[in-house]
Amino acid sequence: MARTQPKQRYQSPELHALPAGPLERPPVAARRTSAMPMLAGHDVKALVARYGSPLCVVDESKLRTAYRKMIGAFRAAWPDTHIGCSVKTNYLSAVVAVLRNEGAWGEVVSGFEYRLCRDLGIPGSEILFNGPYKTDEDLELGFREGARMHLDSDDELERVIALSRTFDQPREVGLRCSIQLNYPPWDKFGFSLETEHALEAARAIAREPKLRLTGLHAHIGTYLPDPAVYGKAAEALIAFALRLERELGVEIGYLDLGGGYATRNTLHHTMLPGEALAVTAEDYAAAITGPLRKAARQFRRAPRLFLEPGRFLVDEAVSMITTVRAVKRGSGQQKAALVDCGVHILPTAYWYDHEIRPVEEKEGTLESYRMVGPLCMQIDCVRQSIVLPSLRAGDLLVIQDVGAYNFSQSMQFIYMRPTYVMAHERGVDVIRERESDAYVREPERLPEHLVNDETRGSILLRGR
Ligand SMILES: Cc1ncc(COP(=O)(O)O)c(C=O)c1O
Repeated sequence: MARTQPKQRYQSPELHALPAGPLERPPVAARRTSAMPMLAGHDVKALVARYGSPLCVVDESKLRTAYRKMIGAFRAAWPDTHIGCSVKTNYLSAVVAVLRNEGAWGEVVSGFEYRLCRDLGIPGSEILFNGPYKTDEDLELGFREGARMHLDSDDELERVIALSRTFDQPREVGLRCSIQLNYPPWDKFGFSLETEHALEAARAIAREPKLRLTGLHAHIGTYLPDPAVYGKAAEALIAFALRLERELGVEIGYLDLGGGYATRNTLHHTMLPGEALAVTAEDYAAAITGPLRKAARQFRRAPRLFLEPGRFLVDEAVSMITTVRAVKRGSGQQKAALVDCGVHILPTAYWYDHEIRPVEEKEGTLESYRMVGPLCMQIDCVRQSIVLPSLRAGDLLVIQDVGAYNFSQSMQFIYMRPTYVMAHERGVDVIRERESDAYVREPERLPEHLVNDETRGSILLRGR
């Protein structure tokens, strides 16, 4: 006879965080704790004495080297290659100016970035205009100045068709294509190749007397360390381009493979440090130009190749110098080092375990720290766990490889953005002044009914 079991209440499982430490991959700092007293040929302490802390330093020669590496690798395999530097990745004008000086075109996704490029002397005809939303003014300006406009949606296509009725002669246009390649796929953008949405859009353009489809664009994601994915993207674009040439009688003059080429930065929770995954420009070039070379003869005319690298060009050229302002015991075994650089100016700390090095060589024990920023938010954490020689308030550290998406996604929160300098062999130049109270408050207005004796001296009332 079956014995009746006493009824047990269901208890939902609980999740407990495992203590940081043994399960983590070895901290990068354990391999590279060597001090970094010099940055781009300049003494770090002297830089801070002159410009303050935190301080962002752009190494001009590293920018140039990264550009040359990429263009060199691609041109060796496909001579008709051009690079449009992704302006959103770092839109400090001096950074874009250096890349332009090397020969880069501009890749933009907004009127702001477009005007920035124009202001630096890049003609419209050397600007690739992407992005899911372009205003009517952006479209008019871009078409008028001969930018390569990459259409992203049916609604944008409709607006461009309406605009084209005002053109005196036919203008070239490109189509952004989305391809199911990564997980998650970048399908927010453009027209799907798989569903033939892209084919429909191409047919619609071919029916327009004032539009000529001459280019295909695909930006398949960001930080993609697997060159094979680019090979697949290139194959898909090539097959589509050849189909369009055959079926619609158009000539596809260029293919644009976008950006996303990875750097040595390390994503959170990955087993291997980014450095171990890092792929060379030659690897990417082989993956993309291989299929192109194979198919070249099938085209009416061998197409030009465009690339839009962002992080690959700028990430490793930029460092942030920061000062330890407090060392706290923390609640567990790990101490907390509070530095003056927070996620407001280093938002990529949300994704990366940035490489951080002390400025001075120190003897003695290594300690594990949680490195936190100065903001009044628990999530203001620069590194969850890092092993460094014992830290004290006043110590300087260098956070490396911070050129991509930190300045352009930074926010003014609690603290002003710091000084940005460019270091080169002739010296150091300020390329962005430290922000002031007046800079932040200048656009504000105080309504008349709030003006009284107490507010009368306010800087908001200047000129009243
Ligand atoms: C259309 C386009 N091109 C190029 C880039 C540059 O990407 P990355 O900085 O990963 O090279 C981006 C960024 O997301 C983009 O949206």
